[in-house]
Order: sequence, then structure tokens, then C-alpha cells
Amino acid sequence: MNRKTLITLKTLTWIACLGPFALLVYQGVTNTLGPDPTSNIALTTGYNALLLLILSLAITPLRLLSTRLSWLIKFRRLLGLFAFFYASIHLATYLVLYLNFDWNVFKTDITKRRFIIAGFAAYTLLVPLAATSTTWAIRKVGGKQWNRLHKLVYLAAICGIIHYWWQVKPGVLSPMNLTIALAILLLARPVLTFIQKRRTRRAVAV
Ligand code: HEM
Repeated sequence: MNRKTLITLKTLTWIACLGPFALLVYQGVTNTLGPDPTSNIALTTGYNALLLLILSLAITPLRLLSTRLSWLIKFRRLLGLFAFFYASIHLATYLVLYLNFDWNVFKTDITKRRFIIAGFAAYTLLVPLAATSTTWAIRKVGGKQWNRLHKLVYLAAICGIIHYWWQVKPGVLSPMNLTIALAILLLARPVLTFIQKRRTRRAVAV
């Protein structure tokens, strides 16, 4: 891919990723966040955090499908960092707008409310991934260790999905689409790696 196309695609990705945040700011400024502004902010940021995390997980399987898609790797870090960005605003919304920094309620929530525990686990797993996302950190940690550490992203996404299911009312199926997407990605990776290894072995044998 040439430089111009890459810059255009990166700009479009930035615009798409910042879209939900810009909309929230606009709604905040114009006082149109709806009847429950706190919930609106929490739901929008939580959903986009999980969506972007799952999109970042789709990059590797897509690259394994075809070598012509190898350029997609240039977008993985961007999507992952935007997922962390939304997750951080989501957590801040909870601490500031829901709890008003009441640490006693936080202590109760983090020990007694299972959906908060799952959300907190997801966020905790994302922190070391975001912290080691720079090229400097990759060099410092070492490629192999870095790859191993970044497998945590799957666990973070699973915790995010559990958090989502435990947050919705019984019978509400809104988390289903992202759950199916994550299940496909979790299955696709080992299957595609196996196919690719077999292809390479055959090519070497010929
Ligand atoms: C300490 C960490 C977290 C806390 C305290 C937390 C808290 C919450 C709360 C209170 C809600 C419900 C909002 C409402 O009904 O008004 C919610 C919803 C949600 N959260 Fe979290 N969350 C955390 C981390 C995460 C993370 C890391 C993700 C994503 C990876 C996430 C994804 C979601 C999703 C998808 C929803 C539901 C959105 C919807 O229904 O459209 N949360 N969270």
C-alpha cells in the first residue's frame, strides 16, 4: 500500500474512532444527552470500548486469511488504544458520575456486584497492554515476551463480554452480536494458524 492511501485510511480510522466521543461532547454541550446522561455516557463508552477491542482482535485472523491483507497490522495498535481510551472514560464516568468518588460504595461494588468485578477485571487486563504499546516498550520487553503478554487481550475481551451480559436485564440479547463476533475470532485464530502451517510445510516439501 502506498503512503498516501495509508495516511487516508489512518485519518478515516481516527475520525471513525473519535466519532462516538465527539457525539457525546456535542450532546453534552447542547444538553441533549437524554433523560439519563450518566447512563448514556457509560453505555456509549462501554460499548465502543468492547467493539474496538473486538475489531482489533479481528486483524490477525484477517491477515492469516490472505497475505494481501498484511497492511492491516498498521491499524491494530490504533484500534487497541482507542478501546483503552473509551474504557478509561467509561471507568471515569463510573467513578465520578455514578459514585461521586464514594470509595465505600466502590469497595462494596468491587466485592459484591459481579458485573462490576468482571468490568474491573477487563480494565485491569487492558492497562499493561496499553502501557506496553509503544515501539520503545516492545523493544524493552522483547518480542516474544511482548507477544505472550498481549495474548491477555483475549481474556480482557472475554471479561468485557461477561461484564456486558451481567449488566443487561435477563432476557435482553443486545450482547449477542459482539459475543458471536468474539467466539468466531477465538475459533478462527487456531484454525487459520493450523492451515497456514500446513501450507508452509507443503511448500517446503515441494
Ligand atoms: C472498572 C471497570 C468498569 C466499570 C466500573 C464499569 C461499569 C459499568 C456500568 C456501571 C455500566 C452500566 C451503565 C448503565 O447501565 O447506565 C457498564 C456497562 C457496560 N460496560 Fe462497563 N465497566 C467497566 C469496564 C468495562 C470495560 C473494560 C469494558 C469493555 C471492554 C466495558 C464494557 C461495557 C459495556 C459493553 C456495557 C454495556 C453497554 C450497553 O449496554 O450498550 N466496561 N459498565
